Amino acid sequence: MYYPDELIEEVRTKNDIVDVISGYVRIQKKGSSYFGLCPFHNEKSPSFSVSQSKQMFYCFGCGAGGNVFTFVMQYENYSFQEAVKLLAERAGVNLPEAEYNEEIRKRESLRTRLLEVNKEAAKYFFYQLRSERGQAGYQYLRKRQLSDETIKKFGLGFANVTSNDLVQYLKSKGYEDRLITEAGLASFDEKYGLHDKFWNRVMFPIQDSNHRVIGFGGRVMGDGKPKYLNSPETMIFDKSRNLYGLNFARTARTNNIILCEGYMDVIAMHQAGFTQAVASLGTSFTAGQANLLRRYAKEVILAYDSDGAGVNAALRAIGILKEVGLTGKVLNLEPYKDPDEFMKNLGREAFEERLNKAENSFFFELRMLQREYDLSDPESKTKFHREIARKLCGFSEEVERENYIEAVAEKYHIGFDNLRRLVQTYAAQTGLAVPASRPKSGIQKKSDPMENKRKPQRLLLTWLVEEPAAWPKIKKYISPKDFTEDLYQKIAEKLFADLDAGTLNPAAIISLFTDEEQQREAALVFNTKLVELDTTAEKEKAFHDIVLAVKRNSLDYLSGQLGSDISALGKVIEGKKALEELSKTHISLN
Ligand code: UTP
Ligand code: MN
Repeated sequence: MYYPDELIEEVRTKNDIVDVISGYVRIQKKGSSYFGLCPFHNEKSPSFSVSQSKQMFYCFGCGAGGNVFTFVMQYENYSFQEAVKLLAERAGVNLPEAEYNEEIRKRESLRTRLLEVNKEAAKYFFYQLRSERGQAGYQYLRKRQLSDETIKKFGLGFANVTSNDLVQYLKSKGYEDRLITEAGLASFDEKYGLHDKFWNRVMFPIQDSNHRVIGFGGRVMGDGKPKYLNSPETMIFDKSRNLYGLNFARTARTNNIILCEGYMDVIAMHQAGFTQAVASLGTSFTAGQANLLRRYAKEVILAYDSDGAGVNAALRAIGILKEVGLTGKVLNLEPYKDPDEFMKNLGREAFEERLNKAENSFFFELRMLQREYDLSDPESKTKFHREIARKLCGFSEEVERENYIEAVAEKYHIGFDNLRRLVQTYAAQTGLAVPASRPKSGIQKKSDPMENKRKPQRLLLTWLVEEPAAWPKIKKYISPKDFTEDLYQKIAEKLFADLDAGTLNPAAIISLFTDEEQQREAALVFNTKLVELDTTAEKEKAFHDIVLAVKRNSLDYLSGQLGSDISALGKVIEGKKALEELSKTHISLN
């Protein structure tokens, strides 16, 4: 952490979470909490809750949760430091620059400088497009049917024919050579010295989801090669974690996101009113991007080129979407090549119609697969049906699998029972595919053996947050060291100290973690609803079991270290005694 804890705490307490979130999301008071539609996933009925007393938010739908810093981090796509800065400014708290350590400050300031120089370059290109020398670029864009408004919205620009134009300009503004090269805006060689990377191209600034320019794509105005020249990856430009157009699409609040391949496709769709369109950045679609999309919609409609390469890219993207738990659908653009051409020829209404008719991604996969078989030949047809059955095994949930078997049987004229039997045969041979794991959900699967160790630790913490009165009863048996998960141990240290001092403060505990994923996991501890148990006896038994499980796990862990650590022996013996005593002791919760 680069700011002292007290300062972070000051920033947090001066930013009431209900106030801050109200600025982003409509929330209404219901009982002791506020509720609204979750901004991190698409939903129709509110499961996003904000608690003023806890100063925390939590979504029962997608598991997003945390304190006011977490919220800003997730909503704005900020780092912890950036969130602290924003909220400090909001509350008028001064953050001393000097609190950064030297290395961090250097890195942060390089980041800031890179953002600055990119912004300056974007402004320059933008201005050039409107000048005499930029007319070729401007005419090119107009010929591609972009309105002035669209050109402005996307900040399109022009890089002049002269090959050290931008370099001169940036230097005159005081940016040093090294920064300009590091930003990928220029390169150096013996013959030409420092010279522009982009020249004689129309320029597409690439923005992150907060509208900050992080790189560029530049297109030739004719048939030259390469068609698009892109900025290299830099400290601020990670091509696998950003999407073109997401800065607008994230607030489109539609039920879906349209994913396409090209900058021009995104722009054409936005111009036609489909502001939920995004594209990857000249590289193939990644899991990181899929995870990013998960915050904004459940369904992604693929609008990839209709040629062979586009189909293959779509098939890959379907797999990636499935892995993070997003539904994929595929848009048919025939007879046109891409959304831009479709829009030009058939217009927005026809596009809307195609959107509504987008094909279920499984059927799309089957349709593409079918092209490899000759269905008039019984042998080939059988192979095709086997392949279908094999793919159907991928649905691990029975209801879903049955529904698909039914639909596929009808569509491909296969007897339902026959297909079902075939699927069962394959399932028996290979076992059903493991359900797609959802890396960012923070909710672990039951089958995870580590989860059996983690769960009691988490439950015990949750219990103590919900019922602080239970703490004195178990204090003599449990210490933070009994938590074998780093994250839980850290929470336990602070929580137990707070409980001793009588100052329980969950939202402050979350600030101990600067990483978004850890904050989410910590928030889970404070927002898990414990099962309601009817009688005190049942409750006491459950609590006793949890405490025992934690203690036993801690002892197992210690024993595992016996070989390497002499002092562990004493602790193991001590632990065994405590465990024995604990197992015989009745913990009263009254
Ligand atoms: P396309 O070749 O499909 O171009 O590339 P496009 O988007 O339809 O562009 P226009 O309509 O001809 O102007 C799709 C995307 O692939 C990346 C770019 O991101 C482009 O938008 N690409 C393509 C490159 O990065 N470099 C290239 O040379 C070509
Ligand atoms: Mn195109």
